[in-house]
Amino acid sequence: MKTDTTPIVRLEDYRPSDFHIEKVHLDISLHPTETRVISTITLLRNPAGNPSAPLALDGDELVLKSVKIEGEEVSPSDYEATPQSLVIRKFPERVFDLTIETALNPTANTKLMGLYRSNGIYCTQCEAEGFRRITYFLDRPDVMTVYTTRLEADRNDAPVLLGNGNPNERGDVPDSNRHYAIWHDPFPKPAYLFAVVGGNLDHVGKTFKTMSGRDVDIAVYVEKGKGDRADYALDALERSMRWDEQTFGREYDLEVFNVVAVSDFNMGAMENKGLNIFNDKYVLASSETATDGDYAGIESVIAHEYFHNWTGNRITCRDWFQLCLKEGLTVFRDQEFSADERSRPVCRISDIKTLRARQFPEDAGPLAHPVRPPQYSEINNFYTATVYEKGAELVRMLKTLIGADAFRKGMDIYFDSCDGTAATMEDFLGAFEQSSGKDLSHFAKWYGQAGTPHITVKGHYDATAKTYKLDFTQVTQPTPGQPSKEPLVIPVSLGLVTSKGDLPLDCSSVNENGVFVLDKASDSIVFSNVSEEPVPSVFRNFSAPVKVSLELDSKDLLTLLVHDSDPFNRWQAAQTIATRLLVRMVNGEDCKAEIEAFASSLLEFTNETAASDPAFTALVLTMPGESDIIQEIGSDIDPDAIFKSRTILKRILSSVLSPVLVPLYNSLANTGPYSPDAASAGKRSLRNLLLDLIACNNSAEGEKLAQAQIQSATNMTEHFAALSVLSHIPGNARENAFTEFGKRYSNEPLVLDKWFALQAVIPEESVLGRIERLTQNPAYAISNPNRVRAVYGAFAMSNLTQFNRADGKGYDLLADLAIKLDKINPQITARLLTAFGSWRRMNGVRQAHAEAALKRIAAQPDLSRDTSDIVQRSLA
Ligand code: ARG
Ligand code: ZN
Repeated sequence: MKTDTTPIVRLEDYRPSDFHIEKVHLDISLHPTETRVISTITLLRNPAGNPSAPLALDGDELVLKSVKIEGEEVSPSDYEATPQSLVIRKFPERVFDLTIETALNPTANTKLMGLYRSNGIYCTQCEAEGFRRITYFLDRPDVMTVYTTRLEADRNDAPVLLGNGNPNERGDVPDSNRHYAIWHDPFPKPAYLFAVVGGNLDHVGKTFKTMSGRDVDIAVYVEKGKGDRADYALDALERSMRWDEQTFGREYDLEVFNVVAVSDFNMGAMENKGLNIFNDKYVLASSETATDGDYAGIESVIAHEYFHNWTGNRITCRDWFQLCLKEGLTVFRDQEFSADERSRPVCRISDIKTLRARQFPEDAGPLAHPVRPPQYSEINNFYTATVYEKGAELVRMLKTLIGADAFRKGMDIYFDSCDGTAATMEDFLGAFEQSSGKDLSHFAKWYGQAGTPHITVKGHYDATAKTYKLDFTQVTQPTPGQPSKEPLVIPVSLGLVTSKGDLPLDCSSVNENGVFVLDKASDSIVFSNVSEEPVPSVFRNFSAPVKVSLELDSKDLLTLLVHDSDPFNRWQAAQTIATRLLVRMVNGEDCKAEIEAFASSLLEFTNETAASDPAFTALVLTMPGESDIIQEIGSDIDPDAIFKSRTILKRILSSVLSPVLVPLYNSLANTGPYSPDAASAGKRSLRNLLLDLIACNNSAEGEKLAQAQIQSATNMTEHFAALSVLSHIPGNARENAFTEFGKRYSNEPLVLDKWFALQAVIPEESVLGRIERLTQNPAYAISNPNRVRAVYGAFAMSNLTQFNRADGKGYDLLADLAIKLDKINPQITARLLTAFGSWRRMNGVRQAHAEAALKRIAAQPDLSRDTSDIVQRSLA
């Protein structure tokens, strides 16, 4: 067992930097294995720092070549250098230039942090602490400075040279095969936003005219030969830029904006100033290679990174504890953008599904942490669903609590007062206190308290008095390090629904938008003049990230499904009925008659809604996922029983819906050319769901239709959906389809990723052998994060029965991979291991196997800080 104590960084220990950096000049001479970096930083003491502190710069696996002060070589006896730090005690007590030369090997950099080479392209990833892998620096977000970068490389190897800011000059290096480019970024920024790119790239671009009439050259760079797949990303970028002007009054601020797609990338993308670098999965799209879901993902990640230019870059974070300041807010902004560009209810429901599938389990497990964590040992492990998705919900709640006008005004105040600074959550909330005149100190507790509040609601109708009373209580279970919880401020958006629609709300505790604010452990409100007994519709539009218990019978829930004016609660009503049935089935009840009754209602719903709103219909007909059921049951989970219950529920649904399935499926057949817009995608999503339902109950028919759909498909959405349906039907047709698909796309790694993932989630015992074979595919590479995620990520996160096998072989598969991968890419390893977050919820024998697998990883020598942190917390 590894016992060395990795240092813990604490929010309460924050101190300003002892030094300022006035400016930095970087000279980077790119070479596949011997890149040279000469950094000249202009330094002075920070009056707010410790006046006698030595100059201590951060490094990580650095090779130091020389140190100069004011151009004079410093003798090695006058500094202490290790790969992790450079400490200088003798320097002038005034502004001075420090010049440091380091040597890097981008090809050997498999951690994909700092400067590395991806498929022949030089690129960087500096967030959170990657810049220190390029040169010694004050690598902390509150040290902001102006960067000038000279990039040099072989003309053939890297004809394109990109940096932050605006291009200054470029030219050839005389008497050599090399050339250079100089970039200057006038906006002071922290080191984590630094980036360079060098490579042989294609691009698409255009001129964007900003709201004040300035021209900006915007471009998307991709690997040679893939230029025809960059148009959608460019289009999404242009729409994002326009939206931020119109919605938040935010204009772009440089002369150029470049996006570069690379094939080896740890995360989704990175918002480096003026030079966003992307995982190519979130850039490249053609109708033949990308699904509707991929297009939607590209649109939202392009928007997300672009929006960071204001929420993240112009205003950055004081320290990494404030990560949600930029991430929660920027996710909120990208969600609003997608909702404006597409169907708002469909986007909202999809976002809520993601939150519940990823953040709720996190909040309920060993890795639970507040949106603003109080401490960390490895910051990379806090780029979580809690910081991002729950963080976005907190911003949304804030808007609900103070109203849209005060929210917009508060954003303006925030932009005006914090521009150019490294800010905190307090700065952010302060802007909204100012705009709304409200005290937000109680609301602020959401940022410090982990766990999902559980709200119990009870309704009582008094027919004589014509009043309706709602009783609320809130409870939050303990989380690691937080044994007791306080009541939070919870906006409850609500309505009273009857078969004639919404009743007017006559209650002094509810504002004009139908919002009641619950801020105590329990509270009650009473509505007057309630003419008939209504069904309460609470937490409309998911007005708070909470779990809700409300005793409504199926009849009441069906009233909501049909008559609620709130689309989220219509959808939720069907989900609630289905989840209850599933839980009872897992407990051994036979609910056939009730499922049939529920399915008949869904049949009626489908007949009424399918034509006018296919996307929403598809969401309602999609039964709760395995993770929804796990959360509902809580502990002693039997994955096989959950899988079986879901299968039975879907079969009954399918047989009750059978009169409409095939006709509706046929009527939704594609005509005309492919378009990724939301309306077209909505039709395809319903059609593909119908195919899945057909196959549930009649695998022969399903197989036939799926094969025909593969033959006739004009786009990847249809093609892949049909393959997914086939993947659940064991037999030759499936195996042949897999083989065919694998051959056809053998040179398309992003398409193969779908194929890898689809096979890795087959809920059959033989999947382990299949995974073994997949990893022998020439397209598979353990060094590529997308490949590893496609095979092992999909298996661990989405193959419930096989990852949690009673024989423990699923856990062992992931542990074996983790032990190997940790030496190559710790960040990806740690991320995959979060799949163990629910091990204590599994029943008997599974827990012992999971614990043994985790302990086996923990016992490895030289485990990375990333992996060891996740494993230790999971075992605690
Ligand atoms: N700031 C990026 C985004 O959300 C994420 C980069 C995180 N990278 C990392 N290595 N932790 O847009
Ligand atoms: Zn982000």
